Amino acid sequence: MAKSRSGVFKKEASELLNRFNASLSFDKKLYEEDIKGSLAHADMLEKQGILTKDEAKAIADGLKTVLSEIKNGKFVFDIQDEDIHMAVEKRLSEIVGKEIGGKLHTARSRNDQVALDFKLYVQKNSLHIMTFTINLIKTLLDIAKKNTDTLLPGMTHLQHAQPINLAFHLLAYMCMFRRDVERFDSSYERNNFSPLGSAALAGTPYPINREKTAKELGFDAPVSNAMDGVSDRDFALEILFNISVLMMHISRLAEELILWSSMEFRFITLSDEYSTGSSIMPQKKNPDVPELLRGKTGRVYGNLIGLLTVLKGLPLAYNKDMQEDKEGVFDSVETAAISLQILNETLKTMSINKDNMLKACAKGNLSATDLADYLVTHSNIPFREAHFITGKAVARAEELGVDISQISIEELKKVDDRIGDDATVFLSLEASMNARNSKGGTAKSATLSQINDMEDWLNGFK
Ligand code: ARG
Repeated sequence: MAKSRSGVFKKEASELLNRFNASLSFDKKLYEEDIKGSLAHADMLEKQGILTKDEAKAIADGLKTVLSEIKNGKFVFDIQDEDIHMAVEKRLSEIVGKEIGGKLHTARSRNDQVALDFKLYVQKNSLHIMTFTINLIKTLLDIAKKNTDTLLPGMTHLQHAQPINLAFHLLAYMCMFRRDVERFDSSYERNNFSPLGSAALAGTPYPINREKTAKELGFDAPVSNAMDGVSDRDFALEILFNISVLMMHISRLAEELILWSSMEFRFITLSDEYSTGSSIMPQKKNPDVPELLRGKTGRVYGNLIGLLTVLKGLPLAYNKDMQEDKEGVFDSVETAAISLQILNETLKTMSINKDNMLKACAKGNLSATDLADYLVTHSNIPFREAHFITGKAVARAEELGVDISQISIEELKKVDDRIGDDATVFLSLEASMNARNSKGGTAKSATLSQINDMEDWLNGFK
């Protein structure tokens, strides 16, 4: 019989109810948080004179025994116990006796207990994800430092636009991941308040010390309202949202890795360690890793929408619907953790085909804007007119079968005699890239200063 059933019940719970109601199969993941919370609670009860020293010691020793039993795989999880909270408490009572074990739950409810355990899990994993994301930024930065001279076509609409360097391209992703780290960090700060001691919904008549348990468990302070303490799942929504945005960034990078490793691009080659084969076509090496990163992003979004929907109609305070908060969070956290690690390794082990990137720059008239800019700066022609003239020059280059960066000065002058003798100097790919030296631009000098900024941020973080 599940221990949450008091003497009010005249019949046993049905087998079907036990199966439907239980969360033990998934919330057993919270065993460490549950025992940590109970240790802090029992210690506080003793300091407040609610438990005797001997009782508190027996409970603490018993909880540590339960912890090692779970860790060693000796603990028997029984669905009849409903959830991890009841399962741990039942085993504690078996070890220390019901007389003492039954006192642990004084001045506490499963409602504040589950809110606490879940929040501890979310806070701990926010820090893990931040560390993995920082490792990813470090890898991108290492690759960037070696590739400030590696030219590739910058694109808009997936069409060749302007030449950029690879470091600059990767810095765009570093900026996204940096915001992700900051987002997890700010959620951590905002939610770092302990629900323990909220009890069922209205607080407790026992003289508890919520500040003590809050500090002991690594929180800044207790939450200020008990009803909010047991009903709030914003922290869970925030980690789901933060992971969704992070995975969206990962997915965009993954999409580029897929494109770049295709035969059409061949900008990169994924390592054998992180490529997969085909069961029928022996020549194939498939980018399953970035494809799965892209695909898993969908499920992570689903977890966010799922919990938002579960919560939207709930009256205060705790409702059993809230038991549905955990599986999606566990899934998103585990997905983010493995995704960040495998993306990091995939990037570290891939090879960059600089020649193919450069060859691709010779197509698409990437430096056309530079001709327009030249006409503005050197011939005092309004930009709109310069834009039109340049279009004619591009059309001429296409007729000749050359890229605008390769066209002769004679041909250019035929398009418009205001084009000076020195114009082609500005049309080389390198000149084009380095011309964009505004702050945040792709010029090598501007790229190097972005690298410095990113390094400063990394060093300053923590
Ligand atoms: N297993 C429950 C959950 O995950 C624990 C809290 C149950 N509280 C209650 N009053 N039924 O939400």
